[in-house]
Amino acid sequence: MSSKLVVLKIGGSILNPKSDFSKINREIVLNIGRELARLRRSQGYRFILIHGGGGLAHTAVRLLRPGDVRGDLTAGASLTKTLLLYLKLELCRLLLQAGLPVYPLDTEAVVREERDSLTIEVAKVHRVIEKNVVPVLNGDLELSERGSIIVSGDLVAYMLCEALRPATCIFLIDKKGVLDERGRTIPVLRGEDVCRINLYKKGVTDVTGGMKTKLEYSLKIAKLGVRTYICPGTEPSVLREVLLGGHSSRCTRVLP
Ligand SMILES: Nc1ncnc2c1ncn2[C@@H]1O[C@H](COP(=O)(O)OP(=O)(O)OP(=O)(O)O)[C@@H](O)[C@H]1O
Ligand SMILES: [Mg+2]
Repeated sequence: MSSKLVVLKIGGSILNPKSDFSKINREIVLNIGRELARLRRSQGYRFILIHGGGGLAHTAVRLLRPGDVRGDLTAGASLTKTLLLYLKLELCRLLLQAGLPVYPLDTEAVVREERDSLTIEVAKVHRVIEKNVVPVLNGDLELSERGSIIVSGDLVAYMLCEALRPATCIFLIDKKGVLDERGRTIPVLRGEDVCRINLYKKGVTDVTGGMKTKLEYSLKIAKLGVRTYICPGTEPSVLREVLLGGHSSRCTRVLP
């Protein structure tokens, strides 16, 4: 495990809000990129990024009718793939502009379905990190034997953590961490609380399970021995606090 390796999921909710998917949050992404570039340059952190589908891809994927996933590529699937490419291009373009040398990787080229289970081929991701550039993967639709299957960005983050055992995994979202029923940041969530917690109900749920699924994957990642946080993407200075100090009152730490 490298103490400087960080798996960072940039939630689609930050990049392209689910409540207003005509919008790309360019300034927020630029700020995240600048902070990552500084942490990389001055502290030697190595990042692997994953982005989610945001409002656009989550809306498009709803056009897949249940039967479609087993059949040919349909309008829903081709639109989803195309919109994911658009989001990835926008994200990578902004991160480059912020000074982060990104290297977009096609998730379908590294995640495969074999005998009904998903595997990740990390050699390619490794090669990119060794070249001192920043791999960028995404939540995706995978064309498998069974048809198109949804592979969420949170699942890709888990698979990367399982294979590479980074020191830290961070999920950036559009809220100030995980909120309690009164909308306050929950500083620490432990295994048993993750299953029991009464979540703040407002907001749009996505096709991959929203916060509930994110918490399930976060807990699985924490159980691997990876320091796991859910942080506000709107406050990128939180990244410095959790990476250098191990704690921030502005986010949620998930413990096994
Ligand atoms: N207790 C909670 N605390 C914070 N957010 C919550 C909570 N309960 C539900 N949510 C919702 O979860 C959302 C974050 O999860 P969501 O899957 O929608 O975003 P994401 O993972 O960033 O996006 P994507 O899946 O496109 O990558 C928040 O925008 C909020 O609406
Ligand atoms: Mg999500």
